[in-house]
Amino acid sequence: MRGEEPRLTFPADRKVLLTVGPGGVGKTTVAAALGLSAAAQGRKVIVVTIDPSRRLAQALGLADRNVAEIVTVQGSEALGEPLDCLLLDTRAVFDSIVRGYSKSDEAAQKMLDNRIYQATVQYLGGALEYAAIARVHMLVSEGNYDLIVLDTPPTANAIDFLEAPSRIGELLNNPAAKFLTKSSRLSMRFLGLASSMMMKVLEAMGGGQFIGELGAFLSEFGSALGEFQRRAGDVAELLVSESTGVVLATSANDFSVREAKAFLDVLRERGLHVDGVVLNRVDVELPPLAHDSVLQEAFGDAVDAPSLQRAADIYDEAREQAERSRKVRHDLERSYPDLPVCAIERMNPPPTGLESLAKMGSRITRS
Ligand SMILES: Nc1ncnc2c1ncn2[C@@H]1O[C@H](COP(=O)(O)OP(=O)(O)OP(=O)(O)O)[C@@H](O)[C@H]1O
Ligand SMILES: [Mg+2]
Repeated sequence: MRGEEPRLTFPADRKVLLTVGPGGVGKTTVAAALGLSAAAQGRKVIVVTIDPSRRLAQALGLADRNVAEIVTVQGSEALGEPLDCLLLDTRAVFDSIVRGYSKSDEAAQKMLDNRIYQATVQYLGGALEYAAIARVHMLVSEGNYDLIVLDTPPTANAIDFLEAPSRIGELLNNPAAKFLTKSSRLSMRFLGLASSMMMKVLEAMGGGQFIGELGAFLSEFGSALGEFQRRAGDVAELLVSESTGVVLATSANDFSVREAKAFLDVLRERGLHVDGVVLNRVDVELPPLAHDSVLQEAFGDAVDAPSLQRAADIYDEAREQAERSRKVRHDLERSYPDLPVCAIERMNPPPTGLESLAKMGSRITRS
């Protein structure tokens, strides 16, 4: 690896950083690392993860905590400003939107208990992704943090994640949804007026409860839907604003880098600001063995000839892997000359403790 590693620098107005990239490349690790190093520099930071594997939770000792609860990472205060962390799921975010925008606590509770609401939230396409950005948007509006780091799912889902705000918009703009929201009062009146008759018929058919819930859903969710729609636009705006920067993580192999490059192009096409690439788990470059007997000299008589041969093969393989990392990096730098590519070597043990994560973060961002 070179002595002078490029670092990622972030414009002062970045309030949100997204870590994105292919599966298993280290997005969650990089999110935690960036969060910890910014906190170590005295900034008030929260790391938000929707990673279903909850690896970050385990790494930061938060595995048993509830989703949607902001927790302070134990031990982070020793490194600087305490770091907050938040694990999300779709339901939790939508519930908090309903709570925030219903007419009363009672109305909110009625909605939360409504089975049609529950099914809608569960089956809404891209809902998890939308929910995550919507929650980040709320955090930005609340203004309690200098920096919000959002860990995202692997690239395949991340496309969903970019499309989520417009999909929510489309969903709410489609004629059926419009009819539902606009006609909610009408439906209620219809249901109310006709209730005695209709309910009896429906109850007899076993559908009374369903119709009752549909009525409540239509009347209560109407206003919440409007709020969702307004937010979808805000959320989409936040993604492309100067407040949001993207850090693309990738492994140093052909497959991941190909996927990462394709994603990078999509991000830029959509107007997101990519601040740099973390080429993660890069193998350390090794010099060729000075001469054939160098291993023999190192091990002495302790190992037999076949074991020595195996050691030589492993060394060669490690050298080749490092050479592949180097080529991949070169290719990335040539393809995106304006983007800093920061290489982080493969660590053993992997960086899961607070100190190693903070150190990794400062290697990404500082010289
Ligand atoms: N520089 C590194 N050296 C060694 N191990 C690493 C390094 N970075 C990350 N890892 C390890 O690689 C594994 C994958 O990392 P991580 O969970 O952060 O990836 P991810 O991109 O978030 O995965 P997913 O796509 O499943 O969400 C973890 O076991 C992590 O500890
Ligand atoms: Mg992850």
